[in-house]
Amino acid sequence: MEVVVLPDADAIASVAAEVITGLLSDKPAAVLGLATGSSPLGVYRQLIERHRAGEVSFAAAKAFLLDEYVGLPADHAQRYRSVIRDVFEQYVDFAPDAVRGPDGNATDLPTECARYEAAIVAAGGVDVQLLGIGTDGHVGFNEPGSSLSSRTRVKTLTDQTRADNARFFPTADDVPRHVLTQGLGTITDARHPVLVATGAGKAAAVQAMVEGPVSAFCPASVLQLHPHVTVLLDEDAASALALADYYRETYAHKPAWQGL
Ligand code: GLP
Repeated sequence: MEVVVLPDADAIASVAAEVITGLLSDKPAAVLGLATGSSPLGVYRQLIERHRAGEVSFAAAKAFLLDEYVGLPADHAQRYRSVIRDVFEQYVDFAPDAVRGPDGNATDLPTECARYEAAIVAAGGVDVQLLGIGTDGHVGFNEPGSSLSSRTRVKTLTDQTRADNARFFPTADDVPRHVLTQGLGTITDARHPVLVATGAGKAAAVQAMVEGPVSAFCPASVLQLHPHVTVLLDEDAASALALADYYRETYAHKPAWQGL
């Protein structure tokens, strides 16, 4: 796990966008894993700017969303499929149907989850997976207690996550209780997970993910088992890390040939 401590959210977005533009330059038909939440918004803004500048094209790429609420009406602005369209997809040149998410309105949710897993495999697997982290250590919507080898399935949100996400809904009661999410096994099948986190509110979850035990109690800690993970943090999100100075020194002296 490579931990990179950067000055602010713009610097994080810039490094993450560089990883994705570099991937698409080497492999135009790459498969991207897209996350929702506020953390990746700066990355999407940078990618849109680079696309407008003619520096990157998504025309041959595919993308898969991490997760989705169950039961939100098709036209609801907070459906993650709608959010990704509104903040990113509509501004770049993805082909029609190149971006997919699990369907939280499917009549048979377990079948939909299996179908989604099969679609990711059929596309060749995810190359770069963008991730945020919840204050309880969740990635996607894999709440504490999630099997470290889980696949896409229905999960029940914790009260903490529903409270965290209440800012996007009229009241906390309007946050759906059930979701579909790629499992931790699905997420760690991605060839290069890139997790972004900012702010002191994420410091405890980040510390548990990076320096705590690998445990279902902090689902993001499963990333410790992955051979190629990049964690991009601002100073506040990195503030509880015991080895923060070591991570800074490592990145400052990283051999230029190594890349992220
Ligand atoms: C939601 C999403 C996660 C995201 C998390 C953190 O629960 N399902 O993918 O990482 O929120 O969101 P934010 O980046 O807004 O803090």
